[in-house]
Amino acid sequence: MSVTLAFDVYGTLIDTHGVVSKLQNSVGEQAQAFSETWRDKQLEYSFRRGLMQNYENFAVCTSHALDYTCRYYKVALTKEQKTELLDSYRTLPAFEEVEDSLTRLKAADFRLYAFSNGSADAVETLLIAAGIRELFLGVVSVDDLKSFKPEPAVYHHFLKQSGASVSDAWLISSNPFDVLGAMSAGMRAAWVQRSREAIFDPWGIEPTLTVASLRELPESIG
Ligand code: 2OP
Repeated sequence: MSVTLAFDVYGTLIDTHGVVSKLQNSVGEQAQAFSETWRDKQLEYSFRRGLMQNYENFAVCTSHALDYTCRYYKVALTKEQKTELLDSYRTLPAFEEVEDSLTRLKAADFRLYAFSNGSADAVETLLIAAGIRELFLGVVSVDDLKSFKPEPAVYHHFLKQSGASVSDAWLISSNPFDVLGAMSAGMRAAWVQRSREAIFDPWGIEPTLTVASLRELPESIG
């Protein structure tokens, strides 16, 4: 059977810091730091909701994280400004090498899926806006289980939904917690180290493969 690739979405295919230029209008020169805090809090809220078994979808985590970040930076956004930022989160851009790299992987007979904390609807909207939806066989969302990565059950859910066996499936993610989660669930995983400064958690488990961008995948995954 062909190898199945589960692509993480936010941060791996889609640039979560694509909101920075919009943020500059409302928060000025703090925009990059604001965007980083927003993203960190969004993930923290998903982890905490998973542990608390108090599920609200990822868009709610994103919205609550935006409220937290406004308080942290003492920025008073209007309701309209918040709505505009959350709307732009639904159509964030893909990283520049994504379309070409996925096209090459598809042509090489890999089975491509998007696999995300985002709801299926939010992920479909993002992939369509980025012009890459047709490259995927499907979208698998943790929303089906009302839980979040890195709970093992969500990786098993991916395998079931994609019909892949654990020995034939890779997770591709720029998020170290996601790589560790997939490997703990028995999958192989490629860490996409999108910046030289990005650090992989020192847990004594190394990614099966580390790449600087998706461009390296067709030659690196067998
Ligand atoms: C995703 O699941 C973890 O945010 C990342 O798309």
